[in-house]
Amino acid sequence: MGAHKKAKTAILISGRGSNMISLIEAATDPDYPAEISLVISNIADAAGLEKARTKGVSAMAIPHRDYSNRRSFEKALHKALSLANVEIICCAGFMRILSPWFVSRWAGRILNIHPSLLPKYKGLNTHQRALDAGDDLHGCTVHFVDEKLDSGDIILQDEISILTDDTAESLAARLLSRENTLYPKALRKIAETI
Ligand code: GRF
Repeated sequence: MGAHKKAKTAILISGRGSNMISLIEAATDPDYPAEISLVISNIADAAGLEKARTKGVSAMAIPHRDYSNRRSFEKALHKALSLANVEIICCAGFMRILSPWFVSRWAGRILNIHPSLLPKYKGLNTHQRALDAGDDLHGCTVHFVDEKLDSGDIILQDEISILTDDTAESLAARLLSRENTLYPKALRKIAETI
């Protein structure tokens, strides 16, 4: 291992967690500059929670539905992350918008992966929107999270060609394997700088 301490990283998920798994696996490399300390899901039965535990990573649910408002949910999230001494947060299929209150507390420390070539197609249904627009290219972006949706500084992007017989499903599947490769590269890049 190098002289530098690994950056303690938390992954926020809401679902299956394929990007989470690729980050956890990348971080098993002794030379990787980040370690995955914790996985948190806002959905109690997210499949990714069990997958994280199987890989030996502690995983907990903080169900947003248990809280009466966004602020109290985010306070609980902030507390869990602070207690674990987290330095970097990776959103990976995390389906909650983080408020300015939360984002300002973690400025420059929150990453997200989005399935489009940002600034194109912020928000949902990105694959269908790329098809409907007649685009030749589609892709994925890892970016910093700021106060606005899917709008923070871009860290890395990867692109794929759209084929004539593509559907939203085929595009999503082909792009996901690119996402799974891109996210560990982006986290490496940021973890090396902190
Ligand atoms: C990915 O396509 C990601 O870009 C989007 O949600 C999906 C999450 O997939 N934000 P997974 O849970 O990482 O498998």
